[in-house]
Amino acid sequence: MKIDVHFEPAAPLPDLAGRTVVVIDVLRATSSIVEALANGAQGVYPAVSTEEAIKLASSLGPEDILLCGESRGRMVEGFALGNSPREFSPECVSGKRLVMSTTNGTPAFFLAADGVRVLACSFMNLTAVAFAVLEADSILVLCAGTEGLFSLDDAVCAGALVQRIRTEIGQEVRLNDAAMGAVEMALTFHINAHFLASTWTGRRLIEIGLREDLDVCAQIDRHSVVPEMKNRVIQLRSPDAGSSRPDG
Ligand code: MLT
Repeated sequence: MKIDVHFEPAAPLPDLAGRTVVVIDVLRATSSIVEALANGAQGVYPAVSTEEAIKLASSLGPEDILLCGESRGRMVEGFALGNSPREFSPECVSGKRLVMSTTNGTPAFFLAADGVRVLACSFMNLTAVAFAVLEADSILVLCAGTEGLFSLDDAVCAGALVQRIRTEIGQEVRLNDAAMGAVEMALTFHINAHFLASTWTGRRLIEIGLREDLDVCAQIDRHSVVPEMKNRVIQLRSPDAGSSRPDG
């Protein structure tokens, strides 16, 4: 198996043909996607912008659609939900289709779209994703970053994922330099809300009153779900697709 980590989405991506792509945006898009799908949302439609999200939501029809996401961290006016995983409770999202627009996380799914599989990962579903990719030959872990650049929270999550895969796979894993660096970062930092609070994105969320989101986003393996994007919709993968552990 070969695993590459890509820290900066603004840098040219390698060819994705035949590769499994794992998208990570710890604060907070992939954490919110994991929480929403674990709590019964039918699917998440990522959008590249607020405007595109509004158009997509109206083309999908109003009945079971919720517009959600953020602009500068805050809920967009007219949207039903922001981008806080605490908002994606079963009461709010069960049975709903979500159209989501965020600054870095949802655009990363469009960058990843040519992957043979495209999965969403955060600390909240780390082990489930590690098991889901064990049969892949080649994996690209795409960190959503911040406005195209490096984010420490995503890099540490990427490193923790690579470590999990290496622990389980029992065969040689070839890593690119970024993956080797990410593993070292995951060994250096204790993964908890305090660590997230020390990152640039964590500090920004605290400044706008969203500190409690860090407590949720730091919960390793809060859910055993594997969100996968197919035909531009992110849904829970069927349990018989590839290696898996039972859902929690
Ligand atoms: C993003 O996509 O940039 C984030 O999820 C931002 C946020 O949640 O504030």
